[in-house]
Amino acid sequence: MENRIKDILREAQSLIGACNDETSLTDARNRYLSKKAELMGLFGQMKDVAPDRRASLGQLINNARQEIDALINAKKAELDASKLAKRYQDEKIDITLPGSSEEPGVRNPFYIVKDEMVAIFTALGYQVVEGPEVESDHYNFELLNIPKDHPARDMQDTFYIDPVTLLRTHTSPVQARTMAQASGTPIRMICPGKVYRRDDDDMTHSHQFAQIEGLLIDKDINLGHLQATLDLFVRKLFGEKRSIRFRSSYFPFTEPSVEVDVSCMECGGKGCAMCKGTGWIEILGAGMVHPHVLEMSGYDPNVWSGFAFGVGIERVAMLRYGIDDIRRFYQNDIRFIKQFMKG
Ligand code: PHE
Repeated sequence: MENRIKDILREAQSLIGACNDETSLTDARNRYLSKKAELMGLFGQMKDVAPDRRASLGQLINNARQEIDALINAKKAELDASKLAKRYQDEKIDITLPGSSEEPGVRNPFYIVKDEMVAIFTALGYQVVEGPEVESDHYNFELLNIPKDHPARDMQDTFYIDPVTLLRTHTSPVQARTMAQASGTPIRMICPGKVYRRDDDDMTHSHQFAQIEGLLIDKDINLGHLQATLDLFVRKLFGEKRSIRFRSSYFPFTEPSVEVDVSCMECGGKGCAMCKGTGWIEILGAGMVHPHVLEMSGYDPNVWSGFAFGVGIERVAMLRYGIDDIRRFYQNDIRFIKQFMKG
């Protein structure tokens, strides 16, 4: 019987060693450890064994059984481990794949420049005021000294809603509205906003663009105040080295009126292609508020005086960044806007 036990053990060792899945391992367990297994049957044959050998033989069978059980358990652990390893391999997630990235937004150069200009004037104590884009003839023209049939209306031909309502041609009506409201008290305001004109002759003009207009009214205000204010504005915007010059001009609502030029930022005033050889670039219109305009809005021109100016936002941005076509501000071409990403 000892030999048979050894044979069974040896056979079990090689059979279990060869098992490579759960089913064959379960078969092996049934074959060696179930009640019907040969090894278990040996217990039943004990009665035929001499009593003095029963204990040692029983021990031998038990040991063999335990050893086979241990072998099966070890094999089971081995199969489980390799099954899990295979699952890990099959379900592996490649975390090195690039994610879907989100690009940060970029500010349109229009707003970069607009906010900068607003910041310059609010630091000087100017209030930001807004007004309607659909405006009445009264505020857009009449109160600004541009009566019906005045030739200046031709220069600002625009889109009419009805004979007395139109898309504002400049932001000056907001000044007229502010003066009417402030009725005889000092004013220091700027008005950024969209304006409309039948004005699209070339790449630097568009039927819609934006202005910032400023108005200051107080006592004893003169052209020197305007000059100092615009000088500071231009140097903050284009750099300390810039200077300005006034050229006499005409606007119905200011007297005297001036066109303001800035010394060329490209050549510093020597003359180049950008300033067409003149050394100067025109950037805005301005002047002292016309006495009649003051009067129409309830300010006594013998007591009050003031200045006004109007600057195109796109125009400044075009000069600042060397942009050639005004339409680029409105087209939302990401290749254009991306160039203004802060590095
Ligand atoms: N309103 C003028 C324009 O749009 C600009 C301007 C404003 C000029 C204020 C002088 C003073 O052309």
